[in-house]
Amino acid sequence: MQRFVGQTVMVTGGNKGIGRGIATRFAQEGANVAIAAIDKDTPDAARMIAEATGAKVSGYVLDVTDAAAIKATYGEIESTLGPLSVSVQNAGVITIAKVEDLTEREWDFNLDVNTKGVFLCCQEAIRRFRASGIKGRLVNTASGQARQGFIYTPHYAASKFGVVGLTQSLAKELAREGITVNAICPGIIHTDMWDYNDRVWGQMLGTYGPGELMAEWVEGIPMGRAGTPAEVGALVAFLASADAAYITGQTVNVDGGLIMS
Ligand SMILES: NC(=O)c1ccc[n+]([C@@H]2O[C@H](COP(=O)([O-])OP(=O)(O)OC[C@H]3O[C@@H](n4cnc5c(N)ncnc54)[C@H](O)[C@@H]3O)[C@@H](O)[C@H]2O)c1
Repeated sequence: MQRFVGQTVMVTGGNKGIGRGIATRFAQEGANVAIAAIDKDTPDAARMIAEATGAKVSGYVLDVTDAAAIKATYGEIESTLGPLSVSVQNAGVITIAKVEDLTEREWDFNLDVNTKGVFLCCQEAIRRFRASGIKGRLVNTASGQARQGFIYTPHYAASKFGVVGLTQSLAKELAREGITVNAICPGIIHTDMWDYNDRVWGQMLGTYGPGELMAEWVEGIPMGRAGTPAEVGALVAFLASADAAYITGQTVNVDGGLIMS
């Protein structure tokens, strides 16, 4: 399928993990892709995705909590790749702590990146869709923790429930303009973030060795396996495609049946 030929697609956190799976899918489907992430190697990752897919891919080092930097980056993306059609707000962080050890700094860090960062990128993308008259698509990465909070992560769960709320609110404001806004909830996807979860939750929940907590949780997934970044990319591409023109304000799980609500 080549559903995005001639379109410019931005993916935050697109240098690695789930975001890389999303960016790669858009590149395979003919889009001009911009990836923006806090990691310094983001331009290298862009070159690798370009080599692997033959697409035009640009990489930007960006902190999604910095509104001025977001504005400048979206400006550069449009001058390099053309007017924006799709923006995927996927960059995120997690920390894990017992309630009495959870610092205010950690709370702010999770909410700033995961919720404010999504809002600021949506806001800038909307400004650009309105300026160009493109009926753009916004897709926001939430989490299974936007459906159900887990132990030792009240700040992360709050940040991801917040993503669902802002997605619904923006979807209502933008619906008459033909701009859609949807959220996705990945379950267990094997990335660096999940390795951190496995190690830290594993230590806090008992005497788990490397990979053991993940194996136990994966056993509880109806499909019996973790998901891949490519499988998340397939869902995001669908939500950004013409086939999803009548879908907005929705939150879709991509988790092998882990959560069915
Ligand atoms: N891996 C999972 O199982 C899982 C499950 C549910 C939700 N998620 C969500 O999926 C998204 C991607 O997670 P992942 O597993 O690929 O993690 P990852 O750690 O592999 O990647 C995180 C990405 O976010 C970027 N990032 C972090 N802080 C940033 C900032 N301030 N500004 C710009 N970029 C920043 C990093 O550079 C990186 O590209 C996150 O929003 C995460 O919460 C992941």
